[in-house]
Amino acid sequence: MNSPMMPWDRPATPPKQPLSLLGAVEAQQEVSWACNPDHVPDALDATVIASVEEAAARLDRFAPWIAETFPDTAQPPHPGRIESALEPIPDTQAYLSSLMDLTLPGELWVKRDDSLPISGSIKARGGIHEVLRLAEEYPDPTARAELTLSVASTGNLGLSVGTIGPRLGFPTVVHMSTEAKQWKKDSLRAGGATVIEHPGLFTETVAAARDVAADDPATFFIDDENSPGLFAGYAVAGQRLKAQFDALGRTFTPEAPLHVYLPCGVGGGPGGVAFGLKLAFGDNVHCHFVEPVASPCFMLGAATGKGAAVNCADYGPSGRTVADGLAVQSPSPFAFEHAAHLISGFHTVDDVTILASVNWLERTAGMSVEPSAASGLTIPWRLPAADVPENTTHLVWLTGGALIPDRDRERLRGQAATAALQWSAR
Ligand SMILES: Cc1ncc(COP(=O)(O)O)c(C=O)c1O
Repeated sequence: MNSPMMPWDRPATPPKQPLSLLGAVEAQQEVSWACNPDHVPDALDATVIASVEEAAARLDRFAPWIAETFPDTAQPPHPGRIESALEPIPDTQAYLSSLMDLTLPGELWVKRDDSLPISGSIKARGGIHEVLRLAEEYPDPTARAELTLSVASTGNLGLSVGTIGPRLGFPTVVHMSTEAKQWKKDSLRAGGATVIEHPGLFTETVAAARDVAADDPATFFIDDENSPGLFAGYAVAGQRLKAQFDALGRTFTPEAPLHVYLPCGVGGGPGGVAFGLKLAFGDNVHCHFVEPVASPCFMLGAATGKGAAVNCADYGPSGRTVADGLAVQSPSPFAFEHAAHLISGFHTVDDVTILASVNWLERTAGMSVEPSAASGLTIPWRLPAADVPENTTHLVWLTGGALIPDRDRERLRGQAATAALQWSAR
């Protein structure tokens, strides 16, 4: 591995990091930081737990409508359930172990949110739930037509809200930052949403969109940086995953733990999933957040003690990365408050590793995902051997990709193949 490794030891409280972490951040070098190795059992906020249960019930209530409106969700055993597959990837594990000259103890699995129905990403879990919540609040079609849903997005949250909002009769406006991919904007416009492009970075885009909505009582702003409804929808994944593993007869213990690797932008998606995982698996799951070296805002918020007030740009990272979904400058305050303490490790990856991971996954497992989604693939090999018993299950959460148009996928394939060569040459 070419990444500088941070000591994997117990953190001081509150977490304060040696300068070497900040040095690595400033130099945009890959780094790993272990923190919060022990989950405090009562650390899950009771109000949020209740909202996760409500979200699960709401998604069940809407299942008949979802099955009818989106036929690809209609198959048994759970028609209308927005869920993704869980798969082991032994060939990828063997290939990467040989590439890194390091055997990975345990088994490597993936969670296929890249193929989540309706909008093809982890953001569908929260975005769709939040729109359904509003649909229950506004049952009258005329009231819906008079309320504009507004959302700011690096792409995939916009795709989720922008796909479901118009289907339920809400006019929908999506504000997008420069990093957002053109195909995501095109796809949204084709589906009936209005897209407003902003020249700046994501944090400025959210602030601008929030300001516009604040001046307009007929607009409801779905705030990616501060939304209990989004968070609860993401968190439903925890119980769902547990049911999937239960059905396979796979349970977890301290001697046979589950490590989950989640790509992180503002932290809402991965934070919600981490919350749901802790709710479902307790101390037997260890959650890792993975961010680009160009925008490690969640890690910086935790390491500096500044929390959601941190802005990556103040510490050197450029904010420019191929992982468009993760290109943000500050964490979500809501996600930080409810999930930062649940995270066992923060990790950064550079664009070469991210793109090479896209290549390795496609070549060895036939899975074609977007760059953000592949960012966690190499992280299991960074954990110190002492922390990884032979019976560990490593779950890399693949977070997006199904909707990439063919032409963009072809271009990505070329970039990914080049990056795999570059990675091997370093
Ligand atoms: C593919 C993908 N993965 C991960 C994330 C991270 O989600 P969040 O910004 O909620 O941390 C995003 C965000 O849009 C994404 O598009």
